[in-house]
Amino acid sequence: MVATVLHEIPLQGGDVTDGVVRIADTVRRPICRSSPAVHALLRHLEAVGFDGAPRLVGMDATGREIITFVPGTAGLTVHSVTDEALGSLAVLLRRFHDATEGFPLAGHRWEGGSNDDDVPEVIGHCDLTPENVIFQGAEPVALIDFDLARPTTRAFDVVTTLRHWAPIADPVDRHPLLRHVDVGARLRLFCEAYDLPPRTRRRLLPLARLRFGRSYEVMRARAAEGGGWARLWEDGAGERIRRAAAWLDTHEDELHAHLV
Ligand SMILES: Nc1ncnc2c1ncn2[C@@H]1O[C@H](COP(=O)(O)OP(=O)(O)O)[C@@H](O)[C@H]1O
Ligand SMILES: [Mg+2]
Repeated sequence: MVATVLHEIPLQGGDVTDGVVRIADTVRRPICRSSPAVHALLRHLEAVGFDGAPRLVGMDATGREIITFVPGTAGLTVHSVTDEALGSLAVLLRRFHDATEGFPLAGHRWEGGSNDDDVPEVIGHCDLTPENVIFQGAEPVALIDFDLARPTTRAFDVVTTLRHWAPIADPVDRHPLLRHVDVGARLRLFCEAYDLPPRTRRRLLPLARLRFGRSYEVMRARAAEGGGWARLWEDGAGERIRRAAAWLDTHEDELHAHLV
């Protein structure tokens, strides 16, 4: 009998979870509080034929979740910062939200986090940073890392995504590839590709402000628990939120003009 040696390749790019590895065409991740809910969500997405998320394979002998490895590149590249990529990301997020309709909004235990004050409509990804989207060229093919997914409104998940991708951030904190983009034009492009109703578009910037205040509180509380969140906080995550909120205040009228 020949023993199969499974090589574990550490995966870079995550902020928070230690120990994410690739083995052959699977990814192994430590589980967290929300894993049972996320696993139910991934099974639901597979059942309704949504192809923009990894499939859940199961659990391994050491208690890690096993999901399929999606080939491609995560993070910001010259391809993923294009307008074309942003429009496709909006379409993918729209398809994801639509695919979660029918998934129970109550009865699961999610990781929690900030939200808006409206009644949840869908399951939001709620953490669509560039590192959590896999691209093949300019085409986003999968959303990954659903640890922070939870019931929310479409608008809240759109704002969270735009925070990273427009980006709604002070230029000093932006990735060089996004430092000089026209944020207002990108907000508009995303909303059009998502087909967000005009009424919701007008709410986005006030919602962004609400979200900044709440994320600051949530992140500070999580940082107090230690681990990856504490590292993020020590690395200046709170100050970046404050600077982004100030930048939004300064530019709100100009950005708003793109959303009416
Ligand atoms: N299913 C997957 N397919 C391809 N790459 C993945 C997959 N899951 C994770 N990765 C890679 O590993 C990195 C970290 O994994 P992630 O699940 O986002 O953990 P974290 O909680 O640390 O952000 C991702 O940014 C991505 O580059
Ligand atoms: Mg991640």
